[in-house]
Amino acid sequence: MDNRPIGVLDSGLGGLTVLKKVIKKLPNESTIFIGDQAHMPYGDRSEKEIIDLTMASVDFLLKKDVKVIIFGCNTATAVAMPIIQKQVPVQLIGVIQSGALAASRETKNKKVAVLGTTVTTESHAYQREVKGRNPEIEVKEYAQPLWAPLVETDPDEKEKLAVVRKGIEEIKDQDFDTLILGCTHYPLLMDEIKANLDPSKQILDPADQVAQYTYNVLKRDNMLAQGKAEHEYFTTATNTEKFNKLAQKWMEDSSIQSKHVDD
Ligand code: DGL
Repeated sequence: MDNRPIGVLDSGLGGLTVLKKVIKKLPNESTIFIGDQAHMPYGDRSEKEIIDLTMASVDFLLKKDVKVIIFGCNTATAVAMPIIQKQVPVQLIGVIQSGALAASRETKNKKVAVLGTTVTTESHAYQREVKGRNPEIEVKEYAQPLWAPLVETDPDEKEKLAVVRKGIEEIKDQDFDTLILGCTHYPLLMDEIKANLDPSKQILDPADQVAQYTYNVLKRDNMLAQGKAEHEYFTTATNTEKFNKLAQKWMEDSSIQSKHVDD
């Protein structure tokens, strides 16, 4: 048994889509979330910047004595996780490995598409991870640099639909049968993505597999918690009210009150 919290990080609010599934799968686990909204989006930054910024969030979580850290951010998983893992004493859990595993199991026609940030798609991390499991699967990656920043503005339906429709236009006639949402902000655009995509194509949110994998790791290492779970939220943004409003809506928990943390 280990009652220390699970740490979850992201550049912004997207990581909440991962956190939500982790809390559902692991209701006894306490969690600490940090969203680095002061530096969001990560998806257009240099590798060095992403590594340094992610390291700051990892350090913050380590000071809170977390037992594992989930990178609820594909961009940070793609470029920072392999480097940071060598420097820290706790296990890091990324989203890309889980997304790739799920896609390689699910695709029937062996054609997978990935939507992600510019950094994630240019890193070809999904391609490597999927092909590492099955080299016959074809993986095409498409950058949607506008989508994550859009989500952070809490746009109305009309705005969301317009931006998503434009992005999906490029891929909708491709013959993949499985689409990976390779950015943790994108599940917050799920309705708009579905509305624009042929329903025969399945949409995959890596967070489901991340939650399962986290459970497997904690069980394997005898680190599952017992007792009452507590959830803490931190943001590097100065406007915690904005974070609270969106987090309360997406997590369906009106008690969420975040704290500001200096970057
Ligand atoms: N949510 C992050 C991801 O999964 C990135 C968004 C960003 O900061 O560009 O890649």
